[in-house]
Amino acid sequence: MINNILTGLSVLLKNSTVLNRPLHLQVEPSTLCNLQCKFCISVLKLSGKKLTMDKFKYFITSAKPQRCTFSGRGEPMLNPELPQMIQYCKSKNISTTITTNFTIKQMVKDLVQSGIETIRISIDAAKRETYLKIRGKDRFGTILEGIETVNRLRKGKKARPFLVFEYVMLDDNFGEISELLDLAHKLQINCINFRPLQVYDGISNKVGNLIGNIVGSSDTIDRLTEFLNKAKMKGVSTNLKEVILDWHNYVKRQSSSVKKSGGNKMCILPWLQCFVSAEGEITPCCSIFDNEGESFGNVFEKDFFQIWNGEKFKEIRETFKNKQIIYKSCESCPSKGMGFIFKKALAYKFFKK
Ligand SMILES: C[S@@+](CC[C@H](N)C(=O)[O-])C[C@H]1O[C@@H](n2cnc3c(N)ncnc32)[C@H](O)[C@@H]1O
Ligand code: SF4
Ligand code: SF4
Repeated sequence: MINNILTGLSVLLKNSTVLNRPLHLQVEPSTLCNLQCKFCISVLKLSGKKLTMDKFKYFITSAKPQRCTFSGRGEPMLNPELPQMIQYCKSKNISTTITTNFTIKQMVKDLVQSGIETIRISIDAAKRETYLKIRGKDRFGTILEGIETVNRLRKGKKARPFLVFEYVMLDDNFGEISELLDLAHKLQINCINFRPLQVYDGISNKVGNLIGNIVGSSDTIDRLTEFLNKAKMKGVSTNLKEVILDWHNYVKRQSSSVKKSGGNKMCILPWLQCFVSAEGEITPCCSIFDNEGESFGNVFEKDFFQIWNGEKFKEIRETFKNKQIIYKSCESCPSKGMGFIFKKALAYKFFKK
């Protein structure tokens, strides 16, 4: 409670040194991956590391977040200690979410029994062939089996863990969103999160092939509206309304001239959260670490709070306060305006009921 008040004050006053602890940690359990998604830059630079349970406990005990998301550059379920990490969070009253490709079927039961609250499954397709084309390996059937296992273990759609589909919108899969809604309904998925492709240097030469049609076409918004109407009719919860409202801005952000002059100049994440890599490197978000190779300090070499209130955190807070940008990643970052964060926070609260 006190930490929530301190966080609220920090965000309002935009102090560069803060008294609050981060509310949220995004933790990277592994930098190994078993897929080859065509839009993912992480896969190009995976170092094959796994975070150990001891190291995880060490920084969780120092940072004491309220929420922990397991994600990052690789596949979290490739770390065999993941269920123990989740159990540890549960024992400390820290709520947990994972973003996963959900293809490690031998861990599904342990994952559910660990007490994970939300599983975000990166599916990106409604058909096996499309999945193979986008994610590089034939694992669509394995994911569906895993979801059936979760549904056998949880007591109905309202029981934990909640299941979320993550869907990066591409030319290859846009046409099957209608089928995805049917699939989500059949599999008792709690929500679908449609993600616009984030364009990083590592994939900028492929953008035309990945999203050229949906970005260039004049009827994309009409089609999204049809999908939204179908989702409502089927009772499938989605973020399509927000996607439609932001679509024009998204299309604009794909133009390099807009990137240079615009960008996200008021991100509040550096006051709220941090990303911890499998090696212990800390940044406000995964993008700054992943795209720019930047680190604000290593939690195994330096006290967590010295990093959280260290020079680099102070600098990024100060520049956002002055509506400026230091990192290239912030120029094309699709998220994290003030309103966006509050909407997310409200949606999260609603979701938790
Ligand atoms: C980097 S992955 C790591 C977790 C796990 N391996 C997975 O695929 O879910 C985290 C999320 O980022 C998404 N992602 C990766 N590259 C992206 C990009 N260029 N634009 C938008 N989302 C992307 C993935 O689809 C996934 O939902
Ligand atoms: S999106 Fe996830 S599963 Fe796909 S290559 Fe990247 S890290 Fe691996
Ligand atoms: S604007 Fe985006 S890239 Fe920059 S700090 Fe915020 S979340 Fe990270």
